[in-house]
Amino acid sequence: MLTRQVIFQYIILISILLKHWFYNLINLIKGGSPLKDLSSEIILITGAANGLGRSIAQQLAHFGCTLILWDVDEVNNVRVAQELNQATKSKHIHAMKCDLSSRESIYECAKKVQDTVGNVTMVINNAGIVSGKSLIDCSDASIQRTFDVNVLAHFWILKAFLPSMLDNNHGHIVTVSSIAGCYGVSKLVDYCSSKFAAVGLHEALTAELHSLNRDGIKTTLVCPTFINTDMFQGLTIKGKRAPVVEPEYIADKIIKAIRTNQHTLLVPNNAIIRIVIDRIAPMSAKLERNDVFGTSHMMDTFVGHQNKFSEKQ
Ligand SMILES: *[C@@H]1O[C@H](CO)[C@@H](O)[C@H](O)[C@H]1NC(C)=O
Repeated sequence: MLTRQVIFQYIILISILLKHWFYNLINLIKGGSPLKDLSSEIILITGAANGLGRSIAQQLAHFGCTLILWDVDEVNNVRVAQELNQATKSKHIHAMKCDLSSRESIYECAKKVQDTVGNVTMVINNAGIVSGKSLIDCSDASIQRTFDVNVLAHFWILKAFLPSMLDNNHGHIVTVSSIAGCYGVSKLVDYCSSKFAAVGLHEALTAELHSLNRDGIKTTLVCPTFINTDMFQGLTIKGKRAPVVEPEYIADKIIKAIRTNQHTLLVPNNAIIRIVIDRIAPMSAKLERNDVFGTSHMMDTFVGHQNKFSEKQ
């Protein structure tokens, strides 16, 4: 019921919103926030052996920060670290084999990092897996693993590395979700729900850090569209290859977002309009949209990873 009190609350809410939009607009006109220096950060990147994680590592390597690369694909992960150490003439890049579907493996690797490198000051939770099958065709184990890697790994990593960030009121948590964390897509039921969960993790953690007066720990949520990597091979829309974005482009955007402490990064950024419309649209309209734009059957031609790590990473 719209009592006087509720109406009053809405007026306050809208005033706060307008104030922050105004501040953001002023900031934008002034040329955006100053760029953060990353040279003294110790940065953990998960899923660094391939795709987006590798691109992020390649671009961050040039800022002089210490990088810790975690991946279950040991061969490619070590190769990425070696290449970057050579290119930057440093020994600041460490590769470590870590199975992100296993809590024990994550805690073991975290201890090794703390003992040999130091306290991590920035986490880029990037690793993700996708099965790309209808709900009934996904095995129990694969649904479990999707949640283990795409969400629960974030929790174990945060439990390992957040305490020292809280002590110092300094740090940055980057959560790589997906546009699939904002929409439901057919044959991605497990994937979408894990990515929605990652969005919830980011929102609630950000609120919690604020309530704990730890505003020195920044958070960034990344929701990219489908990326041109092995992970999402074979997507088609109405018989044509679905548009995908190159990992280098998204990595560049992510690093800019980190350096300006941006809270949310959507790629492409006009996706915000579709997401806002989606929030108020009736379900029947969303279903018709899926048919009209061809996303209802986008995953029918999906092949995904073709290498031997398809089951894991
Ligand atoms: C890491 O953080 C812990 C907890 O804040 C602290 O006790 C420890 O001294 C730190 N280690 C290093 C190497 O800075």
